[in-house]
Amino acid sequence: MPSRIRVDVTKKQNAIHPFLYGQFIEFLGRCINGGIHDPDSPLSDADGFRLDVLEKVKGLNPPLLRFPGGTVVKIYHWMDGVGPKEERKRQANRIWGGVIDHAFGTNEFIQYCRKIGAEPFLVVNMTTGTPEEAADWVEYCNGTGDTYYANLRRSHGFEEPHNVKYWGLGNEEAAVPDIGYLHDPKEYVKAAWEFAKHMKLADRSIKLVLPGDKPEWNKAVLDELHPVCDYLSLHYYASSLNGDGAEYFSHAAKLEKRIAETRELLAEYPARVENFDRWYRFPPRQREIRIALDEWGIWQIGNSDDYVRDMETVYNWRDALLVASMLNVMQRQSGAVTMATFAQMVNILAPIFTNEQGSFLQTIYHPLKLYREHSGNWKLSCETDSAMLTDGEGKPSAVPCLDVSATYHDGREEIVLAVVNRDPSRPAKAVVSFTGADVPEIAEAIELTCPSWETVNGFGLDDQVTCTVKTDARHDADGGYVFPPRSITLLKHRSAIRD
Ligand code: AHR
Repeated sequence: MPSRIRVDVTKKQNAIHPFLYGQFIEFLGRCINGGIHDPDSPLSDADGFRLDVLEKVKGLNPPLLRFPGGTVVKIYHWMDGVGPKEERKRQANRIWGGVIDHAFGTNEFIQYCRKIGAEPFLVVNMTTGTPEEAADWVEYCNGTGDTYYANLRRSHGFEEPHNVKYWGLGNEEAAVPDIGYLHDPKEYVKAAWEFAKHMKLADRSIKLVLPGDKPEWNKAVLDELHPVCDYLSLHYYASSLNGDGAEYFSHAAKLEKRIAETRELLAEYPARVENFDRWYRFPPRQREIRIALDEWGIWQIGNSDDYVRDMETVYNWRDALLVASMLNVMQRQSGAVTMATFAQMVNILAPIFTNEQGSFLQTIYHPLKLYREHSGNWKLSCETDSAMLTDGEGKPSAVPCLDVSATYHDGREEIVLAVVNRDPSRPAKAVVSFTGADVPEIAEAIELTCPSWETVNGFGLDDQVTCTVKTDARHDADGGYVFPPRSITLLKHRSAIRD
């Protein structure tokens, strides 16, 4: 029996924010130092940016970049990373090991964002930092007046403000083993109010992201902070600890469930904040609270003590299929998730991998690039009935072979079906139908495939992922289309939707 994909083209459901395709960098292992920034490398430009990496990052085209952490924000003081480079301190990275030499600080980060066309998203230190320090950072970045920190930025060569709009109020503050005092939501709320007040008084227009956790934490912090919080953050790392067969893909469904539960909670808070005391001297939140999935990816947590080395994961093609499935989840949940940053961009759990001589694209790079480049900017409603993947013994699992997201690109007038066939060895035929239209002509089918589930890329190897662009692809008479085994297909249909 073929699978069925039904797309409703009578209505565009919601806009999909480009920020879904963001990236994250942290002072963790070789993500920043030796990844994007390496002043001593012959591969770097005069500013110390690795040019081979920069070119690959431009291929991902992230519209948003989160920095400097992650857990490391708990020891990060922004003043250490500005001013003359020879005076910057070499700080022991007590969180992840190694040294933060601060050669890459706020201004280098902003320069990098400008080079790649990304909006900056900064996260403040609520552990060893103070509300005043965070507000000073806002003033340094965004100040336009004749004030100390705005002038300090100017004296560092940046006359114009950086206009950093997105600010995280800490990172994973509920995580008990991490350093910090704010694991109890009551403590967090108390501190976060103070940080929010200081920072908003430095720039009333900034948007704040609260670190989320389990549902109880989320409710406790939102009940108090919802008037000033624009986003609640979620972090989701998939792993194959519970198996790497069909069940591995159930992570996509788990992520979708977490987002859906969080979305329900967010619906309890008013879209507009009424009766906000004018003596706060800044406005309250102006629209619904959204979800920022500001760390997501695949983390195969090992047993060794060298967790930083473990995070230099080499990803296979099965991982790429899971990444594509998770991107489908984000598109389907784009009414609630309007910001996401993949963790992390280079070397650490990352799509780009370097050594001193060069760099290569991991398998997971390809879906990240493809979705960013070709997906539509509106969500369409879509239902899929698919056969199930089988487990190791040939019994059907609870995981469908096909995972689908439908979007509409109004600039290109294209309906884009993103279809992941997770069956490792068999093609899958699906009959596609469109409510409100005949089956439109296929403009283009872009297919990513790889020799096997286990295939990886590496140094000295040609890229093992094949990208095929078919301009002559057609549905058969009953609307059928055959998706190759272990493939990611973006099936673009020419069609104008007007509503
Ligand atoms: O991305 C690696 C780490 O994972 C981040 O520092 C932390 O926020 C999360 O636990």
